[in-house]
Amino acid sequence: MRRALALAAATAALACREARQAAPPTAPAPAAFVGSEACAGCHAADAAAWRASQHARAIQVADPNTVLADFRQPGFSISDDGYRISEVGKVKYTFGVEPLQQYLVEAPGGRLQAYTHAWDTNAKRWFDLYPGETLAPGDELHWSGRQQNWNYMCADCHSTDVRKGYDPASRSYDTRFAELAVGCEACHGPGSAHVEWARTKSGPRGRAGDLTGRRGGRSIRAAATACAAARARTTRRSRRARPVTRAAPS
Ligand code: HEC
Ligand code: HEC
Ligand code: HEC
Repeated sequence: MRRALALAAATAALACREARQAAPPTAPAPAAFVGSEACAGCHAADAAAWRASQHARAIQVADPNTVLADFRQPGFSISDDGYRISEVGKVKYTFGVEPLQQYLVEAPGGRLQAYTHAWDTNAKRWFDLYPGETLAPGDELHWSGRQQNWNYMCADCHSTDVRKGYDPASRSYDTRFAELAVGCEACHGPGSAHVEWARTKSGPRGRAGDLTGRRGGRSIRAAATACAAARARTTRRSRRARPVTRAAPS
């Protein structure tokens, strides 16, 4: 039985491959994400500017090169195991660079949560993002609450090609991205067709359409502007700010 199944699967896979090879050249596969490093060879100046920008560092694995805050202060610690916040646990990623840096910690259900004390990179001190407010667990602004949930609230704009992967049945996330930080393709769209065109100088031009497709066909300038505008709405610094307009996961 198992043999028969395996054979059937193999036959199906073969048929599938033949079908793909036989596909007419007029129906190119949708462009895929290739990663910022694949762009750097031909766009050295853009790549250098990007590497120096906050986009390349929008989210980074927490290590001595990326963590800006002083974790020797009370309530925080550094050990062989990495950076810890005593109230919440181990820091996985840094978030943002300046004027403030936040820290993401792992929580149940594939979640990452943004801790609500941030590091002020100018004054070089920790500060409370909600001063004077007592946020209890269960409050959506508490570090464990929905408003501080990276998967749902933050990932879209701070990484490239984010798929939230929310499973309503288990209320958990399996969030994936093409590139950890805000890569070239976060704004320009998936670049495989453009790279193919540039390398071979054959096939469709592989420009605007492919480079901007991901953002619904809008120009890259429009996409970048929309992102900045949306952020002003989304990252609330106080309870009195305007409510977030996105739909909640069911
Ligand atoms: C093999 C070289 C090569 C690679 C790799 C490459 N490009 Fe290009 N790119 C070009 C060339 C050549 C042009 C200029 C086309 C022209 O002058 O009309 C261009 C133009 C562009 C433009 C200007 C708008 C346009 O469509 O002409 C953007 C934006 C761009 N590339 C982004 C990217 C991104 C993002 C990547 C990585 C996913 C990338 N490129 C990878 C060669 C390359
Ligand atoms: C709609 C897009 C978007 C969303 C959603 C978003 N951000 Fe950002 N974030 C940005 C952009 C763009 C910047 C950099 C430009 C700026 O400072 O305005 C940024 C910068 C930051 C910074 C660096 C400091 C600063 O203020 O510039 C931190 C920290 C940060 N975001 C945290 C978060 C957290 C935590 C969430 C989720 C609760 C989140 N962001 C959600 C777009 C977004
Ligand atoms: C945060 C969004 C964003 C990111 C990230 C980004 N770009 Fe751009 N890029 C833009 C915008 C906006 C323009 C200007 C388009 C316009 O003027 O209409 C642009 C213009 C360009 C151009 C056109 C010619 C030029 O230099 O002005 C190229 C090529 C380009 N980008 C390549 C890249 C590459 C390569 C990367 C990654 C190393 C990258 N971009 C990362 C938004 C972005």
